[in-house]
Amino acid sequence: VIRNFLRASLNALFLGATWVPAALSGFGRVKPVYTFFAHTCALVPGGPGDYLRSAYYLLTLLEFHMSSRVSFGSFFAHPEARVGRRVYVGSYCILGSVNIGAGTQIASSVQILSGHHQHERDSVGAVHHGGKFVTVSIGPDCWIGAGSIVMADVGARTTIGAGSIVTRSIPSDAVAVGSPARVIRSREMSSADLALGSQAPKSPAQA
Ligand SMILES: CC(C)(COP(=O)(O)OP(=O)(O)OC[C@H]1O[C@@H](n2cnc3c(N)ncnc32)[C@H](O)[C@@H]1OP(=O)(O)O)[C@@H](O)C(=O)NCCC(=O)NCCS
Repeated sequence: VIRNFLRASLNALFLGATWVPAALSGFGRVKPVYTFFAHTCALVPGGPGDYLRSAYYLLTLLEFHMSSRVSFGSFFAHPEARVGRRVYVGSYCILGSVNIGAGTQIASSVQILSGHHQHERDSVGAVHHGGKFVTVSIGPDCWIGAGSIVMADVGARTTIGAGSIVTRSIPSDAVAVGSPARVIRSREMSSADLALGSQAPKSPAQA
């Protein structure tokens, strides 16, 4: 009871501390201001930093829960993100437009990109802004290994090995590793599929 009371008090304290920065950012709608405070919050160390980031993202992202934690050095580059309950984000992660299901664990130095094609080239080959930003979905109870780069959906209860690069959707209940990430184990794949080394289905993952 005392622990819950203390946690609720700390949540209230840090919600109060982040209310003004969140309001100045139009609760996530004024992008440059949102980004300034997201970067500032990322630099606050230890427990106070964890509470501060949770409070700021509760007030600015499309969805966030105080039971989720975002560690030192990590930030959401876009406020168009949804984060379920009990999500853990390790240190030094950069997260784009993403939906993260409840209970998912994201290790350190993970990048979740807003799809594959944020820039485009014109007829002479110059690179420009104005590409396509898509929302990547990571299902509930996933484990995303350290240093991974994820640019496509990951299904529920799936593990992505450390250092993997997810370029195509990975189904639920799978373990996928490598660059590009391939399924090495799945409850849904037959042994014949595994023997052939077949790739994960390309349909969007179910969150
Ligand atoms: C994905 C993972 C869970 C798989 O563990 P596992 O089920 O014990 O798998 P194994 O070690 O038996 O490896 C199976 C095969 O996949 C390969 N493999 C495992 N992890 C890999 C990875 N991250 N990248 C590339 N290949 C990998 C192994 O080399 C092995 O290949 P082989 O059969 O040709 O020898 C684990 O390797 C991993 O990457 N964990 C993430 C750790 C992490 O990021 N921790 C951060 C703190 S939370």
